[in-house]
Amino acid sequence: KTTPRMREVMTSLTRHLHDFAREVELTVDEWMEGVQMINWAGQMSTEQRNEGQLLCDVVGLESLVDEITYKKASEATDLATQSAILGPFFRHDHPTREKGATISFNTPEDATPVYMYGQVLDAKTKKPLANATIDVWEASTNGLYEQQDEKQVDSNLRGKFVTDANGEYAFYCLRPTPYPIPYDGPAGKLVQLLDRHPYRPAHIHLIVLIDGYKPITTQIFDKDSKYLEDDSVFAVKDSLIVEFVPRKNDDKAKYELKYDVLMAPI
Ligand code: DHB
Ligand code: FE
Repeated sequence: KTTPRMREVMTSLTRHLHDFAREVELTVDEWMEGVQMINWAGQMSTEQRNEGQLLCDVVGLESLVDEITYKKASEATDLATQSAILGPFFRHDHPTREKGATISFNTPEDATPVYMYGQVLDAKTKKPLANATIDVWEASTNGLYEQQDEKQVDSNLRGKFVTDANGEYAFYCLRPTPYPIPYDGPAGKLVQLLDRHPYRPAHIHLIVLIDGYKPITTQIFDKDSKYLEDDSVFAVKDSLIVEFVPRKNDDKAKYELKYDVLMAPI
C-alpha cells in the first residue's frame, strides 16, 4: 500500500543502495551474484524455514531493527526487560500448559533438566502482574527446534504459561545448548565466505504479553555458554545473560533459573 512512510522508506533505501554501489564500484557480475543469493534464499524458504530472515540475521539487520523498534521511550521502558530478536522458529500455536508443567517430552540422554520460575512484574512499581502469558521455546540438545526434527513430538520444548494471582510462572525445561543456525543455504554460505561460524549461544526464547503493557519478545542467554561474544546473529545483550544454579531436593531438575520479567506500561 502506498503511504507517505512507504515512500520515505523506499526513497532512502534506493539512495543508500546507489551510494553503496558507487562506493564499492559494484560490477554487473558482482550484482548478479547478489541477485542469485536472494533467489536461492527464496527457493529454500518454506513454512518451516525463513531463509530471507536468516540472511538478514547474519548481517545483523534483525538485531538492529529490534533495537530501533524497542529503543527507550520512557523511564519505565528503561527499567523493563530488554528485547531480543524473534528469530525464525516461533510458532503461533503453542499449547497452554499448567504452572509447573514440563515442556520437554523427548528428553535426550545428554540433556540437563531445569526448573525455570519467576514473576512478571510492573517495571516501575514492581507490582506482580496476574494473567500475563509467557510463550517459551527452545531447541533440543541436537540443536534442532521441534519443527526441524521429526524425532521430536509436536510442540516439544514449547509452551504457553499464564501467571497466577501472584504474577508467578514456573515450568520444567532443558538447559539450552549452543547450536548452529541452518547453514546449508545462502545465509550459511555467506557466514562461511566471511570466515565466521554459524553458532548461536545457548538461549531460551520468551514472549511476554499482558494488557496495558508493551509486549516483550526476548531471549535469555546462559552465562556459561560459548559464543556469547560472537553470536552469529548478534542478539546478545548483557542484561539478558542469566545464571543457572544447582537445584536441591528435586529429582526432576538438576539446575534452576529464577527469572523475573519486567513490563513497561503502555
Ligand atoms: C536465528 C535465531 C534463533 O533464535 C535461532 O535459534 C536460529 C536462528 C536467527 O536469527 O536467524
Ligand atoms: Fe533460537
